[in-house]
Amino acid sequence: MQLQSRKIGVLLTIQLWIFQFLWFDPILCDPQTNLLNKGCSQYNSTNLPVFYANLNTTFSKLRNQLAGPNKDLFSTAEQGQSSNPVYAMAQCRDYLSTTDCVACFDTAVALIRTCSAANGGRVIFDGCFLRYESSSFYDQTTEPGNTAICGNKTATSTNGFQTSVNKLLANIVSATPKIKGYFAAVKSEADGSLVYGVAQCAGTVSESGCSDCLSVAYNNVEVCVPKSDGRAVDAGCFLRYSQTAFFADNQTTNITPYLNSGSSKTKAIIGGVVGGVGFLILLGLFFFFRLRSKKSKKTTHKGDTLGATELRGPVNYAYRDLKHATKNFSEENKLGEGGFGDVYKGVLRNGKTVAVKKLTIGLSSRAKTDFESEVRLISNVHHRNVVRLLGCCSKGPELLLVYEFMVNSSLDKFLFGDKRGALNWKQRFDIIVGIARGLAYLHEEFHVCIIHRDIKSSNILLDDYFQPRIADFGLARLLPGDQSHMSTRFAGTLGYTSPEYAIHGQLSEKVDVYSYGVVVLEIISGRKSNDIKLEPVTQYLLEWAWKLFEEDKLMNLVDESLSTDEYDVDLMKKTIQIALLCTQSSVAARPTMSEVVVMLLSKGQQELRPTRPTFIDATNRIRGDTSSSSGLSSTATVSITQVSGR
Ligand SMILES: *[C@@H]1O[C@H](CO)[C@@H](O)[C@H](O)[C@H]1NC(C)=O
Ligand SMILES: *[C@@H]1O[C@H](CO)[C@@H](O)[C@H](O)[C@H]1NC(C)=O
Ligand SMILES: *[C@@H]1O[C@H](CO)[C@@H](O)[C@H](O)[C@H]1NC(C)=O
Ligand SMILES: *[C@@H]1O[C@H](CO)[C@@H](O)[C@H](O)[C@H]1NC(C)=O
Repeated sequence: MQLQSRKIGVLLTIQLWIFQFLWFDPILCDPQTNLLNKGCSQYNSTNLPVFYANLNTTFSKLRNQLAGPNKDLFSTAEQGQSSNPVYAMAQCRDYLSTTDCVACFDTAVALIRTCSAANGGRVIFDGCFLRYESSSFYDQTTEPGNTAICGNKTATSTNGFQTSVNKLLANIVSATPKIKGYFAAVKSEADGSLVYGVAQCAGTVSESGCSDCLSVAYNNVEVCVPKSDGRAVDAGCFLRYSQTAFFADNQTTNITPYLNSGSSKTKAIIGGVVGGVGFLILLGLFFFFRLRSKKSKKTTHKGDTLGATELRGPVNYAYRDLKHATKNFSEENKLGEGGFGDVYKGVLRNGKTVAVKKLTIGLSSRAKTDFESEVRLISNVHHRNVVRLLGCCSKGPELLLVYEFMVNSSLDKFLFGDKRGALNWKQRFDIIVGIARGLAYLHEEFHVCIIHRDIKSSNILLDDYFQPRIADFGLARLLPGDQSHMSTRFAGTLGYTSPEYAIHGQLSEKVDVYSYGVVVLEIISGRKSNDIKLEPVTQYLLEWAWKLFEEDKLMNLVDESLSTDEYDVDLMKKTIQIALLCTQSSVAARPTMSEVVVMLLSKGQQELRPTRPTFIDATNRIRGDTSSSSGLSSTATVSITQVSGR
């Protein structure tokens, strides 16, 4: 009896201790050095010892201000204007104590020193940030490369969470620019869901600059819901929401006086976003970005810069650097041939490995200007299932695009190539879901709808963890608008192209949905879509899949290299049916990519009733059932030689 109650007592004490440790200490005494973003730029200092001395002086100036009697939470410092200049800025979130602020700053200094001799760098923590450059950047607000960092846990109570977050963000984004010191910490409850939020701008930006920056941050961080945590980072501001308290209750800001008054522009932006009218705003943002990118063009660095330049948009590489990196575009470095040109592996001077694409499209000088702005747009696409465009080179004899390098090359190699059979079912299913997520992002979440037009297994790259990354997206946008689908060889690839696009050139995001369905069938069957030597009868993969579906023998489709005990038959069937749903003739009957993601991840059986599509075969004839809802005659002969291209 007594022992029992003592045990309970001990347990309670431990629990209380854990509770205190988890909830109180981190808020009241924690420099919050969870790293959100880091970048280093290239080294071009002329005198290294002088540069280091200047760097040390700026850092100690900053530290003195933060630790000083004024309890500053924001400071800037410069040193060495005549040679090897350093401009630096540090800022702590206002809810940190002076001790925590200095501790956070010290951690940031230690980390930024790992940039070694870079004459630019930044470190962004939850609790503070530090940045230095060789020229002043104090008025920068929103710069290309701004991004959201979403937590990886889903909110515990999703009911009302979204409303709660939106309301909170809208309020702090609207109020913060009007508050002296540009900081607000707010705790708010709506529909029974408690949310904490913080917004902050650099002390050196203007009120409208702060407002612009936070509007972009709001747009970025919104995609994190329903994750329980989300942050948006940019050159001039910071925005965060969380279901967990990350500042003490007595640190909250009363923002009521700053709401409903003041700049109508901000209110219009907030109102628009909250009202879900988003589109015009996004359009506005799109042009805003394009304008900004044009303006910031002068500051883009040349050469193999890293990191810090992310805040300044894509890198403009020097032609000779890329030529050197790819050993003069040697055969040995060639990774493959794509729709828009050959791809080479390149190693930059800083040791970073990249993929360089040599575009075969010739462009007029006007088109070259468009090219640069398109590159800027595309380089803003950040998604874990989409290959990152790092920069370009438009000054040399050819147009070059520089992408991050993917170790495991492309999906087709693992399905039909030399690494055939290497992927297990779990990896394959992850790839199926990942591609769907990447496409949903390009179609629906990025501020401009990007239709890929050439989804196929050789355009899906695999990263170190066999997660899929969509490559070659956005390139069709580089083609002049009047070039129809038929007059180019980039329009699509035989076996993957939807009938309405191949024949009539009708372009919509459902063109990608169709191709996606074909890729899923390839992943499941391990067979090429356009391989006509299929057993037992000569037919395309898609035709074969539909036949099996009609005969209720779907499991015959599954790759024999997958052992039957590694997959769930129901999930396998469901996945095949989703693929078939994507390849229906009727554009309207195909699901959107976000619907595909939901279907793939939802548990339980849905009723999926796909209807058989029209087929295009190698003899340039369409065949299929006559009930095809696309209205295509089943005997029409069309030329698709140009479409097939490769
Ligand atoms: C380093 O490069 C930047 C950008 O090209 C330039 O503005 C700066 O003056 C350079 N610094 C030195 C020390 O050469
Ligand atoms: C700058 O500070 C670092 C770290 O405190 C030190 O290792 C280095 O020697 C200093 N360099 C100069 C030139 O003062
Ligand atoms: C989730 O976040 C935690 C802490 O930041 C990290 O340790 C963990 O690896 C993350 N998990 C995934 C799946 O990313
Ligand atoms: C906030 O509350 C904590 C104790 O909960 C106290 O130590 C601290 O001084 C308070 N801060 C302010 C600004 O009142």
